[in-house]
Amino acid sequence: MNEDTSGIPRPEEQPGHRVTITDDAEVSTYLEIAKQKAGVKPVPTDTLAPGAERDAVVIIDLGSQYSMLIARRVREHNVFCEVVSHETPWEKVAPLHPKGVILSGGPAGAYEADAPMAPEWVFKRGLPVLGICYGMHVMVRMLGGRVMPGDIREYGLATLHLSQDSSLFEYLPFSLPVWMSHGDLVAELPPGFSVLAYTGNTPVAAITDGNRLFGLQFHPEVVHTPDGRTILKNFLNNVCGCEGNWTASHFISESMGKIKEQVGDGKVICALSGGVDSAVAASLIHQAVGDRLTCIFVNNGLMRRKEPERTLEAFHKNLKMNVVYVNAVDRFLGQLKGVIDPEKKRHIVGEVFIRIFEEEAAKIGKVDLLAQGTVYPDVVESTSPDRKAAARIKSHHNVGGLPARMSLKLLEPLRSLFKDEVRQVGLALGLPEDVVWRQPFPGPGLSVRIIGEVTAERLEILKGADWIVMDEIRKAGLYRELWQSFAVLTGVQSVGVMGDYRTYGYLVAVRAVTSEDAMTADWAKLPYELLGQISNRIVNEVPQVNRVAYDISSKPPATIEWE
Ligand code: XMP
Repeated sequence: MNEDTSGIPRPEEQPGHRVTITDDAEVSTYLEIAKQKAGVKPVPTDTLAPGAERDAVVIIDLGSQYSMLIARRVREHNVFCEVVSHETPWEKVAPLHPKGVILSGGPAGAYEADAPMAPEWVFKRGLPVLGICYGMHVMVRMLGGRVMPGDIREYGLATLHLSQDSSLFEYLPFSLPVWMSHGDLVAELPPGFSVLAYTGNTPVAAITDGNRLFGLQFHPEVVHTPDGRTILKNFLNNVCGCEGNWTASHFISESMGKIKEQVGDGKVICALSGGVDSAVAASLIHQAVGDRLTCIFVNNGLMRRKEPERTLEAFHKNLKMNVVYVNAVDRFLGQLKGVIDPEKKRHIVGEVFIRIFEEEAAKIGKVDLLAQGTVYPDVVESTSPDRKAAARIKSHHNVGGLPARMSLKLLEPLRSLFKDEVRQVGLALGLPEDVVWRQPFPGPGLSVRIIGEVTAERLEILKGADWIVMDEIRKAGLYRELWQSFAVLTGVQSVGVMGDYRTYGYLVAVRAVTSEDAMTADWAKLPYELLGQISNRIVNEVPQVNRVAYDISSKPPATIEWE
């Protein structure tokens, strides 16, 4: 067995054991710690004054499935942005000091009676505006032009031909492939507008007022429009005048002031899960308010092998945070005894966690705020009824009920960030790469990777197999490329032969997927040699397993986890 010999101390393993680790020693700053870590080069956080201006644009969501993707693309150019509903008043977006507005696409027809329009302020404040697909139709309609249903719908690749020079198409050839997805057409331009580009089927494929308003019939945000990134960059840089100064170090400087203000003299608690979001949130808050933050880390026994030790080492030993470590392995296993239904498992793990968290928080004394690693996609999902419904295929365990039950205010410093931005901030804060690049892991942990009842024995079998999967994936240099990779202990047992003996052992499934956001996923095309090595090691090193299968289903129709 490939044992870790890193010398990490194992937390004591008596059930119910509670170790409060509070370090009175001098608290090193994150940047100092980071300096000691080979390969981690923190971005200096003192180069920008807290609250320094940064460029921002607003994305008005008109119902497109791509609104988040537009935001992602804008952020890639180091411009801050927020997606807001089409009913958002100016007062709400004014604090962002937007330098431009993007109107998303959407499913409606702009000539329909109740079609969503952009807020009035969009065209009244003299800001640059880029309308994408339906967003262009809205622009046309609101500014006095006309949109009507097209004779033919246009989906897929088309060739765009530019009919005049424009700052929006700077550095681009006169003909380029673009991705179309529309059934309506601009029939009449608003006064003062002209056509910028056309395709074989779409005479009005891009428009402008010649100054600051632009409309595109195609989708620059999707990868199928290869020059889409340049077009968005041109809009941000050339039209809006954004410099692209939104960086991890900028975010950190800005956050320090905000967190200090929100926390004041209060006390903050945070649940550490070992995942990157809670890790970065905790580090950021710790940097702002130091020991007024206490992290609670509950070992539920459902984590990967060595995860509890690694988490403790990263946060307590390296980052000198106050960590309350709770060994609640037996409590979780006791509650999970005899439970087979995946949703019941989720519910139990969530409930037991909340109870332990409340108990531990009560021991700390008066607490004012609960810190959470909520990230931007969670925020947008929770405000979109459709996406919320879609996510209910599995009732993801989170600590959502806690703030109200404990009458705590929420502190969510990562609310505006995407996952990869969270990672950048983590690196800039000096968090170990191991923590920053950790693959997502479900709250109910290994309990939803054991089909059937969760027992201590089955957990050990799964941890052994999972350890080998991770070890081989890392050695093959694929860990970061994969969204998730893990083993599943199926409930199936099958006949095998080892030496001259018949065996009746477990079937382990190996799952490895690529994904952008976990909403869809593809099975990873791992090399056969690697799969062979994983299988070989599992049957050799985990005695209870005699067969290994590789899961080649995508999501949908399967899900990433088996339960
Ligand atoms: P599925 O299995 O639904 O998973 O395709 C999508 C993503 O969510 C994670 N996942 C969970 N995360 N609590 C969590 O915190 C859960 O109950 C849960 N179930 C699935 C899964 O690992 C993947 O990243």
